[in-house]
Amino acid sequence: MQGNPFKVSGIVTGKYFIDRADELRTVLETMGGQGEKMLVYGARRMGKSSILLNAAARMREATGQVVYADISPATSLTDVANIILHAFNKETGGAVNWMELLRQIQISFTINSQGVPSLDVGLKKESAQKQLVCLSAVLDALDDYAAQKKLTLILDEFQKMVEFGAEEAEWQLRSAIQQHQHLNHIYAGSQTRIIDQMLTKDRAFYRFFEILSIGPIDETFMAEWIDGRFQQAFGKSYSAGAECIRLAGPRTRDIVKLARKTFVLAQRSPKINDIARAAIDRLVQDEDDFLRPQWDHLSNLQKDILKVVASDVKEVSSQETIARFGLPSSSKLAYHFNALVKSDVLEKSPVGYRFDNPFFKHWVAQLLAEA
Ligand SMILES: Nc1ncnc2c1ncn2[C@@H]1O[C@H](COP(=O)(O)OP(=O)(O)OP(=O)(O)O)[C@@H](O)[C@H]1O
Ligand SMILES: [Mg+2]
Repeated sequence: MQGNPFKVSGIVTGKYFIDRADELRTVLETMGGQGEKMLVYGARRMGKSSILLNAAARMREATGQVVYADISPATSLTDVANIILHAFNKETGGAVNWMELLRQIQISFTINSQGVPSLDVGLKKESAQKQLVCLSAVLDALDDYAAQKKLTLILDEFQKMVEFGAEEAEWQLRSAIQQHQHLNHIYAGSQTRIIDQMLTKDRAFYRFFEILSIGPIDETFMAEWIDGRFQQAFGKSYSAGAECIRLAGPRTRDIVKLARKTFVLAQRSPKINDIARAAIDRLVQDEDDFLRPQWDHLSNLQKDILKVVASDVKEVSSQETIARFGLPSSSKLAYHFNALVKSDVLEKSPVGYRFDNPFFKHWVAQLLAEA
């Protein structure tokens, strides 16, 4: 049996990766520079990490070195420093004389039997400021290395730094990074609300980074790519791609996830009509155990608001909608919409509110249809 050509877990590379030629070129240019500072910015599940890792793979083919540090498991700035140290060690194959580099800056650290250095965990109990001094020293060590050999540091989920260090840590971090003449810094993060705040005028990273925005993949290109995988697998033309995009919305992962389920259905019953719609119905049933608790957690008013959004009403706060769904006055509604945006259930787009998770939307729409 043919393997499923759509992959939804982790980072996608190779034949699973839908080309992002423009974005890859921009990232590769940055990786080819010296002392560059870039922020890769975009909504969740859009494909930021995949772009960065595919660019890193190409850079390595060209003998450049890229340290990829995903700091999502970190719970302190010391952890961040250690994740970077480990990733650096992996990339450089232990070629660095850590003893020498770290002793110079007088940080207490240990080196395990494989030669991997770690800052002492006792440091986690120290103030954010002290931990940041150590983190800056680690970054400086990378910059020293980059003076000899081209090096890029990718820091994924970087908005977590703010959680550990508060705003003053940002200023310290900025001044450390600013001095780096050799190391390229590429930062990415998925919580756009926190990152937007970090980039405001009174904060340290205002106008600091070159920004690369990651939006949706071009719809026509993506639909053709999806249909092409079906054609390859089944030897006949399919047109499921456009419908997957229409049903799953703009985020790459959601579209690929629906395409994956559509492919499973096509394998089981090749003649099925309206196959992407059947696939989203099936996906939502499969995820009932995960989606239902999300619904049960909401207040009755929040549930009513989600019903409005799921039924694709154009004017969510019009008098007619308010009357039809029994909602409170529009001034009170705005507050509740905002709360749902803050908790990542809804997102606000230029055309109005929509579900962050299109499958949750479909689940609520099914609930409405049943009622
Ligand atoms: N270019 C691509 N080609 C194919 N699938 C992709 C591509 N980009 C993203 N995806 C799909 O989306 C999923 C999430 O991608 P990725 O982790 O790169 O997104 P992200 O923007 O970093 O997400 P997050 O905001 O959660 O960190 C991948 O596992 C894959 O299923
Ligand atoms: Mg990511």
